[in-house]
Amino acid sequence: MTGKPTLAVVGATGAVGAVMLQILSQRADVWGEIRLIASRRSAGRKLAVRGEEVEVVALTEDAFDGVDIAMFDVPDEVSAEWAPIAAARGAVVVDNSGAFRMDPDVPLVVPEVNPHAVRSRPRGIVANPNCTTLSMIVALGALHAEFGLRELVVSSYQAVSGAGRAGVETLRAQLSLVAGTELGTKPGDVRRAVGDDTGPFPEPVVLNVVPWAGSLREDGWSSEEMKVRDESRKILGLPKLPVAVTCVRVPVITTHSLTVHARFQGEVTVDGAREILATAPGVVLCDDPAAGEFPTPADVVGTDPTWVGRVRRALDDPTALELFVCGDNLRKGAALNTAQIAELVAAEFRGEVSTRG
Ligand SMILES: NC(=O)c1ccc[n+]([C@@H]2O[C@H](COP(=O)([O-])OP(=O)(O)OC[C@H]3O[C@@H](n4cnc5c(N)ncnc54)[C@H](OP(=O)(O)O)[C@@H]3O)[C@@H](O)[C@H]2O)c1
Repeated sequence: MTGKPTLAVVGATGAVGAVMLQILSQRADVWGEIRLIASRRSAGRKLAVRGEEVEVVALTEDAFDGVDIAMFDVPDEVSAEWAPIAAARGAVVVDNSGAFRMDPDVPLVVPEVNPHAVRSRPRGIVANPNCTTLSMIVALGALHAEFGLRELVVSSYQAVSGAGRAGVETLRAQLSLVAGTELGTKPGDVRRAVGDDTGPFPEPVVLNVVPWAGSLREDGWSSEEMKVRDESRKILGLPKLPVAVTCVRVPVITTHSLTVHARFQGEVTVDGAREILATAPGVVLCDDPAAGEFPTPADVVGTDPTWVGRVRRALDDPTALELFVCGDNLRKGAALNTAQIAELVAAEFRGEVSTRG
């Protein structure tokens, strides 16, 4: 192929799509045409990308004519139906949904951790991990490469934008209902103020923490918890890694946080871990509790790296580390990682070696 590849952004009008358009406008421009696709509801809308207004077209088979790489930022069922159609029409699909992540014929790629996997894509589809997995996996991949991971115990503190535009609208509406009140002092007072419509969440999310994300799976686990376990195993190439996860929703607009207990093959030191984290690509070490320095969503939102703080060796296990990790769930957790994968594929189109690192 000559010239720059044509890119389609399917789901350009959504929460991830909006951040994707910003990212495509900020990163080195490796693209020829960028075509914006969404549902029929949005056809004809104009959105800004690379400083130009581009008209959104409806998702149809013809919309993929001439497309080299198609990013899918749409619900699972839309990807499940349309990604194979785009692939059959010759596009390499980079899919942000959960539809193909655990398909053995679809690589699950984090460019800082397993860039080589992108080249083996028998279905013409590459999957982007879930935002909760992505918010920690770059830091864990760097530690695993040095120390050899043996076990993970994780709790998440997930932002409402992880549930898309509906999640953000729900928290903003609830915030306006409780602002300036003394709610949060009696059982049920927040629930009564918020009413029955709690949007995509099972409980009020304002003035609250909700120990649930996703849908119910076997034995009380949530789909989000299963994704973190299964996807971490696949990305790290550790199919039997013991992983225990509890996913919790918190009233933060964007940026997921996680506490991580990571056990390794042998003894670890805090200095050794800090050295790795301080130099790992895509990771920022922010860890000076004496000076009140650790990452929080309020500072991390809108940034690209995975931020790590509170690095400690486990008190009762010299082979384990405790970490607090933050990552913007819409940037590295979704759009940025997808853009990085698409750039690896675009480099193949240009005949460059794309899988270093
Ligand atoms: N939010 C996150 O933190 C996050 C992180 C990682 C991955 N993801 C995944 O990324 C995907 C998008 O999530 P989101 O949060 O951006 O969702 P969202 O805000 O609800 O946006 C959904 C997008 O999909 C489009 N869409 C819906 N139904 C469609 C159809 N039948 N045909 C064509 N387009 C359709 C919508 O277009 P209209 O505007 O025209 O309806 C919109 O552009 C999901 O699979 C999600 O699981 C999300």
